[in-house]
Amino acid sequence: MVIIRRPCRNLRQDKDVARNWPENVERAARENNERKTKDMSVRLKAEREAAATRRNLLTQDAIERTGITEEMIGELVTRFYGRVREDALLGPVFAIVQNWDEHLAKLRDFWSSVVLMSGRYHGSPMRAHMPLSLIGDHFDRWLDLFELTAREVCPPPAAALFIDKARRIADSFEMASATIAGRIAAPRHLLRS
Ligand code: HEM
Repeated sequence: MVIIRRPCRNLRQDKDVARNWPENVERAARENNERKTKDMSVRLKAEREAAATRRNLLTQDAIERTGITEEMIGELVTRFYGRVREDALLGPVFAIVQNWDEHLAKLRDFWSSVVLMSGRYHGSPMRAHMPLSLIGDHFDRWLDLFELTAREVCPPPAAALFIDKARRIADSFEMASATIAGRIAAPRHLLRS
């Protein structure tokens, strides 16, 4: 024979709950929210740590594949901007830079993020370039100097990676500048779709 035990109701407890009803409901809701917030921040922290681990692996892999190091990036940035500042066409555009130490540090972070995926750069390069009214000659000269410097400073596979990234980014800036200036109506793939 199976004996089924009914849970015995505690009437006193029920009465307490009923008497304290609004406070109990509010407290339960508050505790529930606090628990959810805590769960969420634990989850976010774990996701951030996992992303940092993934980024470190990607960086390590990029270093092994290309031989690029932070020191190499530092040398490339210093030499390249040394040339840029002396250049008759680009020098005057860069007169806008107030603090060169900060600018060079930002550019080291930028290139570290681009080629080593270190996630150190958090700026908005497109926005910085749009007010500069750059034209094709600026981009050609910038790339000439950058490519010359990359080939001097880096072994061939690393130089090739820097140059490929720089050309693509320059293209995107040039297209955006030309669109804003009304020199082209819209990116070609939009016009043709
Ligand atoms: C025509 C060629 C270019 C010229 C004349 C130029 C000029 C400048 C100038 C004057 C600034 C400082 C802006 C400011 O402080 O407000 C700047 C910032 C910067 N440039 Fe260029 N640039 C050129 C191309 C490029 C290219 C091709 C790249 C990337 C491959 C690049 C990456 C950056 C970055 C990351 C910054 C910092 C943006 C920030 O404030 O976060 N530039 N550039």
